[in-house]
Amino acid sequence: MRKILVTNALPYANGPIHMGHLLGYIQADIWVRAMRAMGHDVTYVCADDAHGTAIMLRAEANRISPEEQIAGVQKEHERDFAGFGISFDHYDSTHSDTNQARASEIYLKNRDAGNIAVRPVSQLFDPEKKMFLSDRFIKGTCPKCEAEDQYGDSCEVCGTTYNATELVNPRSTLSGATPIEKSSDHYFFKLPNYEKYLQQWTRDEGRLPVSIANKLDEWFEAGLADWDISRDAPYFGFEIPDAKDKYFYVWVDAPIGYMASFENYIKTKRPDLNFNDYWQKDSQNEVYHFIGKDIVYFHALFWPAMLDGAGYRTPTGLFVNGFLTVNGQKMSKSRGTFIKAETYLAHLNPEYLRYYFASKLSDKVEDSDLNLDDFIQKVNSDLVGKVVNIASRCAKFINKNFNDTLSADCAEPELVQSFVDAGEKIAKSYEAREFSTAIRQIMALADKANQYIDEKKPWAFAKVEGNEQQVHDICSVGINLFRQLAIYLAPVLPSLAKEVQSFLKLETFDFASRTKILTQYEIATFKPLMQRVDKKAVDAMVDGSKDSLASPTPTPQKAAKKVKPTPPPATADETIHIDDLTKVDLRVAKVLAVNTVEGSDKLLQFTVDLGEDQPRNIFSGIRSHYAPEDLQDKLVIVVANLAPRKMRFGISNGMILSAGGEKGVFILSPDSGAQPGDKVS
Ligand code: MSP
Ligand code: ZN
Repeated sequence: MRKILVTNALPYANGPIHMGHLLGYIQADIWVRAMRAMGHDVTYVCADDAHGTAIMLRAEANRISPEEQIAGVQKEHERDFAGFGISFDHYDSTHSDTNQARASEIYLKNRDAGNIAVRPVSQLFDPEKKMFLSDRFIKGTCPKCEAEDQYGDSCEVCGTTYNATELVNPRSTLSGATPIEKSSDHYFFKLPNYEKYLQQWTRDEGRLPVSIANKLDEWFEAGLADWDISRDAPYFGFEIPDAKDKYFYVWVDAPIGYMASFENYIKTKRPDLNFNDYWQKDSQNEVYHFIGKDIVYFHALFWPAMLDGAGYRTPTGLFVNGFLTVNGQKMSKSRGTFIKAETYLAHLNPEYLRYYFASKLSDKVEDSDLNLDDFIQKVNSDLVGKVVNIASRCAKFINKNFNDTLSADCAEPELVQSFVDAGEKIAKSYEAREFSTAIRQIMALADKANQYIDEKKPWAFAKVEGNEQQVHDICSVGINLFRQLAIYLAPVLPSLAKEVQSFLKLETFDFASRTKILTQYEIATFKPLMQRVDKKAVDAMVDGSKDSLASPTPTPQKAAKKVKPTPPPATADETIHIDDLTKVDLRVAKVLAVNTVEGSDKLLQFTVDLGEDQPRNIFSGIRSHYAPEDLQDKLVIVVANLAPRKMRFGISNGMILSAGGEKGVFILSPDSGAQPGDKVS
């Protein structure tokens, strides 16, 4: 029997659980339940991530202590997870004595191993709030392109990254005060010590999705830097044991929270388990972390390095989920698609969502869309129309005509056996986290079962006297097929499985139990198992999620944890009117000349022909993506009526459009034949 420890990313204790979070929690829970159903010994723990500046400020705004703040949120999180059937064995908080002890120990071991450095860092300090400001709490004018109102780490207009101290006219977003530069000692984890180790680690078999390992190569190419692991007081977190008024940065003790939650589980509920069996260096047990793609960096670089430096084993693997959109777009409060777990549960059955997510998830790091129309359609046609239907078609005859008892012999042993045999492949799909494949395999069986009943028509036999045996046989086969399906769906639909289990009076419902076919067997009275999804309930949920005062800006914590700026989301948050679009004058232009710009490693200077009297000068921040010579004579699309912008290097007269995503930046270009000055619509 494999012994496996599974964790989910620890949600921040400063906001509610929403549909996006649930994608990863439901994914992990399905896997955990499937592995348990296959007979493995799985321990599944999680906790609230309770530390950090954002939580401290949130508590301050609510006029409560941070401890009260995190206790309240933790209750809500636990309630929501229970509502969606997430089967954690233990749920804790990173703000625990156990975690503090473990974090201190891991830090001190790393210090003794030579992995910690101390050096002064000059940072912006808010003289009114009397605290150092992280980049997200500072705004000012971009030092490169002079765009106003830019955050302290990077410019959203020209894409330059810089230090907050380089901003022109900086101000604190907390108090509005002009920050002053101040130096203090910071503690660093010397990540470059682990460069070789991590390069190997991330390529170890099964450790990471290959697409993620490839992406991490970019970081290795750029070279790893020391990681700043300390924050000055005031900070809500753990004090660094050998440094007064210095606190561990939240991302130090957050993953250690996985260990501490497991440790508290042992202490409070399972003294028979042994912490070291799972965490010592040569442990043969498995440890998996389910995480979202935005936090890979912390889990694939800092975390294994920190563990290794302290003499612990590293995770067996990281399972990474993509992001969730709703109706094809980023979740939005104004559209009512920023749906909280709590709001969903007030209107809909959680198993609908578990099924829908399962039908979309694979082992790939792909984004998923919750399309609400598709959701209604899929749940109604698959679960209600196909699966539950089999039971209701057959059970009533068994209950009414045959004294609740299935026939003495199985009339279709081959058919039933083929359902049993299919379990091998389905189990493999679950184990490989190919849930969409598992669902397809199960639904193919459901189609087969319905086909059988459609062909045999027990209701027709029932009308003619003397055909009792046929009716009995067909319906007994139908119930047996249904039981196979319910076992296969149990990891996804645990409540439904439980009801089926009591309807069929079965003591066990794990995968192995399916091989014994039910004959001469008494069942309970059938009760309806699942209602159709009501579109009105979905509409009410969306209405209940609408918040006309909502602002779509990210919370500071969410933004603050970015290590490097990521491109803004590909989808816009709000719809616009057609008139808004026609305001933008888009034109085809021909590139006459391209030059690099002295003093800027970001910009290229374009001279373009827009079909006007004079060529135009345009700066574009794409130098790292294109060689100037490749752009010569190219046709591009230009925003022609953009107000001219004065930059350090000259005036930019328009904007060249490009597409940008994870793979890079790509200039938009019309097909050949288009002429300079042509209008784009
Ligand atoms: N506290 C950190 C994790 C620390 S783990 C040691 C954190 N918290 S979070 O609340 O922001 O996110 C919790 C999980 O939800 C993360 O895995 C994150 O990737 C995931 N998601 C948050 N929004 C999401 C979507 N819209 N879609 C999919 N997953 C999302 O990060
Ligand atoms: Zn800029």
